[in-house]
Amino acid sequence: MVENRASAVRLGRGFWSVTLLFAVLSVLAIVFWYWTPIGIVMPVVAAQPGIQIDDLFRFMAASGSALYIFVVGYIIYFAVAFRARKGEPYDSIGVQVHDNHKLEFWWTLIPTLFVVLLSILSVRIWYGIQIAQPANGLVVEGLGHQWYYTFRYPGINGEVTGEMHLPLGQPVVLNVTSSDVIHSFWVPDIRLKADMVPGLVNTIRFTPTRLGKYPIICTEFCGTRHGWMNATIPGANGQPNPGAQFVVIDTPANFQKWYHAWQIKNAHASNALPTASTGTVSLAGGDANAGKALFAQKCSACHAIGPFSQRIVGPGLKGVLHDPSHPNLVDGDPATPADVAKILQQGYKGDIGMMPNATANGLSNKDIANLVAYLKTLK
Ligand code: CUA
Repeated sequence: MVENRASAVRLGRGFWSVTLLFAVLSVLAIVFWYWTPIGIVMPVVAAQPGIQIDDLFRFMAASGSALYIFVVGYIIYFAVAFRARKGEPYDSIGVQVHDNHKLEFWWTLIPTLFVVLLSILSVRIWYGIQIAQPANGLVVEGLGHQWYYTFRYPGINGEVTGEMHLPLGQPVVLNVTSSDVIHSFWVPDIRLKADMVPGLVNTIRFTPTRLGKYPIICTEFCGTRHGWMNATIPGANGQPNPGAQFVVIDTPANFQKWYHAWQIKNAHASNALPTASTGTVSLAGGDANAGKALFAQKCSACHAIGPFSQRIVGPGLKGVLHDPSHPNLVDGDPATPADVAKILQQGYKGDIGMMPNATANGLSNKDIANLVAYLKTLK
């Protein structure tokens, strides 16, 4: 029978001393979170509801710190106070306490009330961002690309590149999505973040409250140049990153000027892909080695060197000219070098997908000849 250390269950003077210490530390933590300028962790808020978000952050950080001090403090204190003493049998166990209903009632009620309070505070802000429809909101669309953003505005034809301008004081409804992979749109100064997911539109609502130029950061790893989509990271040789972009909050008058400039600039712009060159491509003198290098650079993001069924974006091309189960190309033409060259030149659009034409892909006739020569060598 193990020894029952009934005496140890009484909470001695040490317990009340550390409790007092934890209380003092918790008050200091709470004071720290309420009085420390937010600027040491985040930039100054440039849009509503940023101030409410910061208040919620302070409340959660303060209450979380206080809770942490008590929980971790007691773990350490009890581990020391109830440690195994010299001379005790190695298998002795501590005092087992069950069914203290008073204690269980309070340790259920207090955390429950706290979680409910946190939910109410959070949902109030969340509702404004996600659901509430602002009067006279400016609806803007943001599109993620590898590795930059474009924007669409009502009344501007096509896409706006570079900076995204917004007028001070007017509510903004920002719908974001992606044209390729998952990106994420984050402006720390606005405190809001939304994933940009192909085929899905996410919406955030805010009202700019502070003039200035604020970096946009992509917070979803989106490929080798994900870092380009972070306007706070300098690029090579001190140059800005090619994909570094900003939200600019303008006075309404300056916003109108910017907006009109884009209206004029895009008025006659066409959104169509560049037209394909015509004329037959000569395949004479195609160099398979040059084609192989070009394939790695231009084609391998969408096409595997594997069987037809091995799709990345388009089908695998290992058997494009030699696969008895696919005697025809995706456009129905026979699988001949000349017809492969035609798809490379003209592009393709059909059930299986879309491939841009040679002009859009930046392929010369010589490039096409080299690619076809390379595809011929695959078996
Ligand atoms: Cu776009 Cu990461």
